[in-house]
Amino acid sequence: MTLLDGKTLSNAIQDEIKKETDEFRKQNITAGLAVILVGDDSASQSYVKMKEKACERAGIYSILHKMPSSISEDKILETISMMNQNSNIDGILVQLPLPRHVNQTKIIEAIDSAKDVDGFHPFNVGRLAAGLDGFVPCTPLGVMRLLEHYKIGVKGLNACVVGASNIVGKPMMNLLLNAFATVDICHIYTKNLASHTKQADLLIVGAGKAGLITKEMVKDGAIVIDIGINRLENGKLVGDVDFENVAPKCSFITPVPGGVGPMTIAMLLENTIKAAKNRAR
Ligand code: GUN
Repeated sequence: MTLLDGKTLSNAIQDEIKKETDEFRKQNITAGLAVILVGDDSASQSYVKMKEKACERAGIYSILHKMPSSISEDKILETISMMNQNSNIDGILVQLPLPRHVNQTKIIEAIDSAKDVDGFHPFNVGRLAAGLDGFVPCTPLGVMRLLEHYKIGVKGLNACVVGASNIVGKPMMNLLLNAFATVDICHIYTKNLASHTKQADLLIVGAGKAGLITKEMVKDGAIVIDIGINRLENGKLVGDVDFENVAPKCSFITPVPGGVGPMTIAMLLENTIKAAKNRAR
């Protein structure tokens, strides 16, 4: 069993990005990311903090717009409009989830698709579904980069994606399909989840439920990618896979933490650089 070490790869990617931003600076170009954080969800706060820190380290200018959960939808739309027009800003990220009174779709659709470094705008969602270049959501993109780094080709593999969210599961499905895997996608209404997961050469889980995948549900020699991040009552961070019992059966598996999470951050930086390059061109 080989551990897929996302932390080391993420650090290496961030170092590469730093070299690029150093080059940019010589040409008087600074890549900029605007982050909008609404409310005081502790997980969102800690993700945003990590994103800011990574920007700083990689030489990307970042600005945080922190808003109370009582903020109106119009105020958020106003901020997005400002960031769309701001020539120092290449990427705009609205941390999800948003408070219930805010229409998430409306917010996402307000972001200029050329600055949509999260890849959540329907324009970019459509481009990915059509196999065209665009912005791809950072977490599934990070999974593909991690697989590539370990020279794991997905062509012809039976892949099973557990979780069908717009942020993770659906773009993951499209990336795998574009890379010619055979994709089975499961969700909370899937009957007999194990009958699907057991067929998978590549099992990718992003359901947000600790302990969802047990060893009986995994094929011998499978590649297992755990996207879940769950905090247990004792404070421990775990994924969706029962790592201790599943890992011995796998050919490759991601740890939590230190697997997919750091890759998400690295891909956000890459998407921001991509946006800055597109603009400079
Ligand atoms: N909430 C959970 N994951 C993400 C992400 O990748 N981007 C944003 N904007 N919000 C999230």
